[in-house]
Amino acid sequence: MNICKTPAEISQLCDNWHKQNLTIGLVPTMGYLHDGHLSLMDIAKSKTDKVVVSIFVNPTQFGPNEDLDKYPRDFERDERLCRERGVDAVFYPTPADMYAPDFSTWVTETSLSQALCGLSRPIHFRGVCTVCLKLFNLARADVAVFGKKDAQQALIIKRMVRDLNVPIDIIMAPLIREPDGLARSSRNKYLSEDEHNRALSISRGIFAAEKAWKNGEKSAAKLTAILRKSIEDAGGQVDYVELVSQSAIRPIETVDQPALLACAAFFGKTRLIDNVFLE
Ligand code: PAF
Repeated sequence: MNICKTPAEISQLCDNWHKQNLTIGLVPTMGYLHDGHLSLMDIAKSKTDKVVVSIFVNPTQFGPNEDLDKYPRDFERDERLCRERGVDAVFYPTPADMYAPDFSTWVTETSLSQALCGLSRPIHFRGVCTVCLKLFNLARADVAVFGKKDAQQALIIKRMVRDLNVPIDIIMAPLIREPDGLARSSRNKYLSEDEHNRALSISRGIFAAEKAWKNGEKSAAKLTAILRKSIEDAGGQVDYVELVSQSAIRPIETVDQPALLACAAFFGKTRLIDNVFLE
């Protein structure tokens, strides 16, 4: 497995692969890998000849009071997991490698990012879009795989790629849960045992709302109320619980089009997100 530390190195490696007519799948991550990431690598592997995993805690997508400094990092473990999974290259740059001191060009998606996480994390998606476009340009990947856990992120990246004619296929991969139901996230590590147990109210609420929808409930007010109540009864602090259209990420009153029930909630200081696609 190749370890590329600089943009020039990953670009050169991918160039060589392209010259051999090999296709490239990219899995962008911030490291501290878990089963969710591994499933993205498997999907990339099944679609392309070479798989690149980027491991970069991207500073530009964190707000001033967010967890950039304490975001969990363990490169040795990540490297081993990638190797065991048959990844062909890991791209592991430093912030200085990715952002010149006078960096001044941003990608801003102006519609889908104006809801859900975009409201409580105003610069988040600008940082995500910018770094992803940089990664797409460096690898010139044919395919990039994003998890549905970060549903809004994946939909925004799809929109960016469409709007800017980036020649890459974006695959949205299923959300992976822990055996007890909690959506897999590197941030789950922050939770105490008690917080973890109470945070299970999120997935319980998601499953209950999904079941109600499958049984014919179409009212957004009723479906969101099920999820909100589950979280609040467990002492979670809701950031948002919303039922939105998948096409525009705008609140809808009735599930009469492909929809997304999404939430963010704090347990202790940890902000968790979860969702289900209703389609
Ligand atoms: O989902 C993530 O881990 C990050 O937002 C991403 C896509 C790697 C961009 O930094």
